[in-house]
Amino acid sequence: MKKLILSTIAALIALPILVVGQNKYTGVKQCMPCHKNEKLGGVSYTVWEKSPHAKAFATLKTKESDEIAKKAGSDKPAAETQACLDCHVTGTNVKDEGVSCEACHGAGSGYKAMHSKKDATDDAKAKAGLLLGDDVKKTCETCHNKKSPTYKGFDYAKYWEKIAHAGKKS
Ligand code: HEC
Ligand code: HEC
Ligand code: HEC
Ligand code: HEC
Repeated sequence: MKKLILSTIAALIALPILVVGQNKYTGVKQCMPCHKNEKLGGVSYTVWEKSPHAKAFATLKTKESDEIAKKAGSDKPAAETQACLDCHVTGTNVKDEGVSCEACHGAGSGYKAMHSKKDATDDAKAKAGLLLGDDVKKTCETCHNKKSPTYKGFDYAKYWEKIAHAGKKS
């Protein structure tokens, strides 16, 4: 009994910490100043901006998407259908940016302050979700899978080539 009470208290204390500690999506405008600048963080923003991911929310606003949503059983336009938003936007507060940096690199609040510093370790970056490591393919497949009503299959190497903004992974 005592153990139960103790663990309940522990849970009550832990909960708010978890909520406060949860990382927040900051939006792509937070990344742009540095990542659109060759001298600072490279040109990943410029590559992303032209990629299909940047248009993923706009895609939901088309007639074609509304038809697909209807067929999937939704009584709302695609842009308001949660089952479409799940893969076509990044977090609820940055909808119209489509699939943005943070959809793959993790919520920005977790690494914003530290990741560009020279002394930031890869370990810390990985913990914050920024470095995808060996899970890159898995990250893509959270959206590129059969739950997508228009699924065309997914070949990591070919698909990465189309959105590549780094020389590291092939
Ligand atoms: C204050 C400037 C600044 C901001 C703001 C910024 N970055 Fe960076 N970022 C950098 C610099 C500098 C590097 C290091 C570049 C290098 O090593 O070539 C970097 C590196 C990265 C890397 C590669 C990490 C690694 O170690 O290989 C990723 C991924 C990244 N940033 C994503 C983002 C995302 C996503 C955002 C927005 C949420 C963001 N950055 C905001 C400056 C910034
Ligand atoms: C959060 C969901 C999500 C993640 C994660 C994701 N994608 Fe996508 N991807 C999409 C959506 C949605 C589209 C369709 C965008 C549109 O056309 O409106 C798309 C489209 C693409 C396309 C264009 C496909 C075509 O038919 O031309 C490529 C290439 C692509 N993604 C590569 C990748 C790669 C590589 C990764 C992992 C590194 C990845 N994606 C991760 C959601 C995602
Ligand atoms: C669809 C997923 C996806 C999106 C969207 C995305 N990235 Fe990346 N990014 C990757 C992957 C995969 C790598 C390869 C490195 C790795 O495996 O971690 C990478 C690498 C990087 C690097 C490292 C470059 C280097 O030379 O090592 C930077 C910087 C970066 N991304 C910034 C951004 C920024 C800024 C945005 C948004 C404007 C963005 N990325 C959008 C998946 C994505
Ligand atoms: C499991 C993730 C996922 C869900 C859920 C999802 N999509 Fe997508 N969507 C994608 C990806 C990934 C692509 C890129 C092409 C593909 O299907 O492989 C895409 C592409 C599209 C395209 C462009 C097709 C083309 O010509 O390339 C349309 C339109 C679209 N989705 C509409 C919708 C609508 C409407 C819904 C909701 C009923 C929806 N999607 C739900 C992931 C998803």
